[in-house]
Amino acid sequence: MDTYRAILSRRSIRNFRSRRINMKLLRRMVNSARVAPSAANLQPLEYLVVTAKSLCEEVFEHLKWAGYISPEGNPKLGCEPVAYIIMLISKSKVSHSVLKRDESAIRYSFKPDLRDVGAAAENIMLFAQSIGIGSCWLGAVNKIGIKKVFSIPKRMEIDSVIALGYPKMVSTIAKFTGSVKYYLDKKGTLHVPKRPLKDIIHINSLTR
Ligand SMILES: Cc1cc2nc3c(=O)[nH]c(=O)nc-3n(C[C@H](O)[C@H](O)[C@H](O)COP(=O)(O)O)c2cc1C
Repeated sequence: MDTYRAILSRRSIRNFRSRRINMKLLRRMVNSARVAPSAANLQPLEYLVVTAKSLCEEVFEHLKWAGYISPEGNPKLGCEPVAYIIMLISKSKVSHSVLKRDESAIRYSFKPDLRDVGAAAENIMLFAQSIGIGSCWLGAVNKIGIKKVFSIPKRMEIDSVIALGYPKMVSTIAKFTGSVKYYLDKKGTLHVPKRPLKDIIHINSLTR
């Protein structure tokens, strides 16, 4: 699948098949995140890949799905994600030993830029989409709960979670008619309104 097609066809997926995801592919997802743009190239992100069934079940307890259509938008029983990538922001120390003194000073003086997470997450989701794997990026996460599950140290902060699996639902772009709220039809297809290109593109000037 070419990049443009992956970008246009990616939709948030919230029901998944039980098929597991090969670890090699999950490693490639993290590798895609690894090379994403990073403000001042500080690279503050780390990634916790979760595949064990019992741990996936525990993570699931700490997530909130599809706010506009809750609870209908929740994954159905047996259609839960089969893997997660937990997006972690390392607040200090990590890689400290491999940095030169002046570099570590720079690292401490900057706050991690959250835009790094966006770029890394999108790389993960687009690579996943290009190989037929669905994803949903979740910010509505009980971070305290998940921190406990994995004993995540204080120097790391959970930013968000990416749920993964082979899709068991269809989600499609809907015509924008004034509301941003996505909706389910009778067949269970999710319709996601996106603002039209003509309304958001400005070429050379903001006046039309
Ligand atoms: C930062 C961020 C946080 C999100 N958090 C959640 C979430 O907690 N739960 C959820 O079901 N979807 C979440 N989403 C997915 C959005 O609902 C989804 O991207 C949006 O409805 C557009 O649909 P699309 O991804 O299919 O284009 C999040 C998306 C972003 C960018």
